[in-house]
Amino acid sequence: MSSLSQKRIILGITGGIAAYKSAEIARRLQDQGAEVRVIMTDSAQEFIRPLTLQALTGKPVHTDLLDPKAEAAMGHIELARWADAILVAPATANFMAALNQGTANDLLTTVCLASSGKIIVAPAMNQAMWSQPASQENIECLKQRGIAILEPDNGIQACGDIGPGRLQQPEAIIEHMGSVFDSGILSGKQVVITAGPTREAIDPVRYISNHSSGKMGYALASAMLDAGASVTLISGPVSLQCPDRCELISVVSTDDMLAATAQAVTKADIFISAAAVADYRVTEVASQKIKKKSDKMSLNLSKTPDIVSILSKDNPKLFVVGFAAETDRVEAYARKKLEQKHLNAIIANDVSRNDIGFNSDDNEALWIDANNCKALSKKSKTQLAREIAVLIANEINH
Ligand code: PMT
Repeated sequence: MSSLSQKRIILGITGGIAAYKSAEIARRLQDQGAEVRVIMTDSAQEFIRPLTLQALTGKPVHTDLLDPKAEAAMGHIELARWADAILVAPATANFMAALNQGTANDLLTTVCLASSGKIIVAPAMNQAMWSQPASQENIECLKQRGIAILEPDNGIQACGDIGPGRLQQPEAIIEHMGSVFDSGILSGKQVVITAGPTREAIDPVRYISNHSSGKMGYALASAMLDAGASVTLISGPVSLQCPDRCELISVVSTDDMLAATAQAVTKADIFISAAAVADYRVTEVASQKIKKKSDKMSLNLSKTPDIVSILSKDNPKLFVVGFAAETDRVEAYARKKLEQKHLNAIIANDVSRNDIGFNSDDNEALWIDANNCKALSKKSKTQLAREIAVLIANEINH
């Protein structure tokens, strides 16, 4: 699996003859495991039909800022939040001027303005337009703002001119996209992450568990890999694909998770406890299926071992980040856990909300450590995980 695996990419297409190459780019991004949504400007649709891109991506193509139907399905703000990166290929001189000025007069410029993800622009235009000081100034300003520019190739142009302005070949664009998410900020570090729920058997048929899907923990594993770390992911039962380059240890019960994690952290620098560990288990697991005898049934429960507390105490050099799943007084309860569990930091999320927390694709949280409380605004778990990687790297490397 490539580093584009499970990344959500908006492919923005503006109106130039090179728009025909965008179909190939969409296909290759998907070959690399990315999820692709397409936004086309009005003039792009003069060069290539939205149907082509819809057929290639299996998703409706977004074209209108003010279409109530499209906004109801996935509005411009949702699209901006959804994307880990926006690739605009080809990008016209007009689009780059609008991006530089921050105008938001169509869907693509609006989504770029609303996005906190990475923006990559692959310009294509006539060589004289490319060389104009106005175009070059726009390019310089965009670069200074952290927007990656995939400089056009030199050669014969559709208009017959020769010079710089040809869209880079799709394979070169895809190669660049493969490195967009690599930061190296945690290179050489060993990270252990727990994810998903644990299950505590009641009898051979039933168990106690919770709603964790593993999405947050798996997103963290991808973000840590992109940051250059080696990652061991210790996962409860979930139906997610493990990121490539990641060592996966699958477990079921809290005891299994404790044993696997205790061993893994002995070689680690960082431990992130994102798993929703079952807090209680039945005191005695029945060896046969318990029969329904009466209307009511009681279970005798005992506390499970607190994995993160045990391991933070046993490994004082380990940088330990916990999560706090709360439904009320989120910050206050999280601060208590930070202290009681001897953590370097805790990420508090509100699991009473349907749009974040358990099982949703997005999350919103507070990063709390001894000196800071930083609000991490609502975004995809992939983007949030990358923000967390930066916060951890800042702490570790300072
Ligand atoms: O998996 P998703 O669907 O993506 O949902 C993400 C999430 C909501 C599960 C995740 O963001 C999250 O909040 N994970 C922690 C869930 C939890 O168990 O929180 P807690 O407040 O009960 O526990 C505090 C910390 O102690 C956590 O780091 C937890 O992993 C750890 N713990 C808890 C109990 C226990 N017996 N051992 C532990 O190590």
